[in-house]
Amino acid sequence: MMLYVATYLVLAVIFVMLVTLTHKLPNLVRTAHEEGEEQRHDQLALFQGLVYTAMIAVAIAAVALTWLLVQNTPWEGHLTEWLNLVVRLMHITFGIAWIGASFYFVFLENALNRTKDLRKELAGNLWAVHGGGFYYLEKYKVAPKTIPKELHWFKYEAYFTWLSGFCLLAIVYYFNAKAFLIDKSVMDLSPMAAISIGVSSFLVAWLLYHLLCKTPLVKKGPVFGLIGLLIATGFAYFYSHVFSGRAAYIHFGAMLGTLMVGNVFFIIIPAQKAMVNAAKKGLPLDPSLGKFAGLRSLHNNYLTLPVLFVMISNHFPSTFGHSQPWLVLAIMTVGTAGVKHWLNLREKGQLNVWVLPVSALILLGAAFMTAPVKDATACKGTVTMAEVQAIVQKRCQQCHSSKPTDDVFTAPPNGVVYETPADIVKLKDKIYQRVVVTKNMPQGNKTGMTDEERNAIRCWFENGAPEK
Ligand code: HEC
Repeated sequence: MMLYVATYLVLAVIFVMLVTLTHKLPNLVRTAHEEGEEQRHDQLALFQGLVYTAMIAVAIAAVALTWLLVQNTPWEGHLTEWLNLVVRLMHITFGIAWIGASFYFVFLENALNRTKDLRKELAGNLWAVHGGGFYYLEKYKVAPKTIPKELHWFKYEAYFTWLSGFCLLAIVYYFNAKAFLIDKSVMDLSPMAAISIGVSSFLVAWLLYHLLCKTPLVKKGPVFGLIGLLIATGFAYFYSHVFSGRAAYIHFGAMLGTLMVGNVFFIIIPAQKAMVNAAKKGLPLDPSLGKFAGLRSLHNNYLTLPVLFVMISNHFPSTFGHSQPWLVLAIMTVGTAGVKHWLNLREKGQLNVWVLPVSALILLGAAFMTAPVKDATACKGTVTMAEVQAIVQKRCQQCHSSKPTDDVFTAPPNGVVYETPADIVKLKDKIYQRVVVTKNMPQGNKTGMTDEERNAIRCWFENGAPEK
């Protein structure tokens, strides 16, 4: 115990020292910049980056220490829950900043005035009013004659979205691989194997995509999109044949997200750096750099809605719980990307009649496809609440009670408990959905629910779910 206290104290002292530095450094960095001392500026900026990284490392060390402290106690689940909460909040915040900026710039690009009263060096301009002020923006054809000192970059939003997303993936799916990542009825993997498959799939996806972008196909938008869709569907198929439905979806989203961040990190930002450097030295700019970066940026733009769907999909068990989860995923990807296409066309002022209705029809198709099929076998006799309660006690209460006995879920999942008949009746629709329609409760069928028991729940529900 003394050792823990001592380590916490050391970490706290280091943290306070780092925080003090972060109060001093920004001013030093700025003055160096203003005084035109580029070398000093770069060194200080690097040091500042290291300080922030060290702060994150100290925070991670503190969390790891806490985890060692509460491991195998009732607080372990609580720690994971709060980690989940904090990292999720960060992930959403960075994600909003990133996607928001991305939407904004694509909107700018689409909505620029490119014809009326433009200076020769401009590609377009735009007037906007927002937050009680008027804004006037100009886009240059290539680069301004001198690169301004203060140039805003948009990159950390993307990097932090990916980093926090990866942490969240680890917290929810990798730390609890047996409960959330692996579904033995899909494939009986060891946690190590499942996690390795998940992580390496992102790398493979990036390489495939990157190679595809090097072929001439990249210039043929629709063909490229179609091939991309086929490959993505392949990934969805693969994921849903190795992971649980939920984990398959989230891996699909994380895979697409990785492509998007890869585009920012490996293509877009280096191209912009090269452009800025060339402009600073007065060298001629290679316009293909900007074009390639723009193309990757456009790919990212089409991926936003499919990724956002995946990120909320774990609230919708009818999607990931379907018997062909990959097909639903592919359909949702096409439908949501279609909506994005329509939005892009609209911003360019190209009013298109059929893109939106077709996309809506595709999405409706997914809703239709995932609708429950009524079980035609008639229910014999009536199922009483006593029988239902016995089943729930045997198969659900291990997790869904105020004091769960499960080894992983030490608090009732989503706060759902089934202790009295009233609890059960109150949640009858959700129970029916998860036990009879999508069959993804009990979680991973950990408690071994049988088909007869699912049928009994169905008959009880179809008979009006009596409370007695
Ligand atoms: C091994 C633990 C475990 C068992 C056993 C279990 N569940 Fe769950 N349940 C969970 C977890 C974890 C969640 C939250 C994640 C999710 O929604 O998939 C959950 C969520 C739910 C939800 C969604 C609640 C909401 O508000 O969104 C329902 C309904 C549900 N369970 C019903 C049942 C029923 C009925 C049984 C028994 C037949 C059962 N569960 C058995 C772990 C379990």
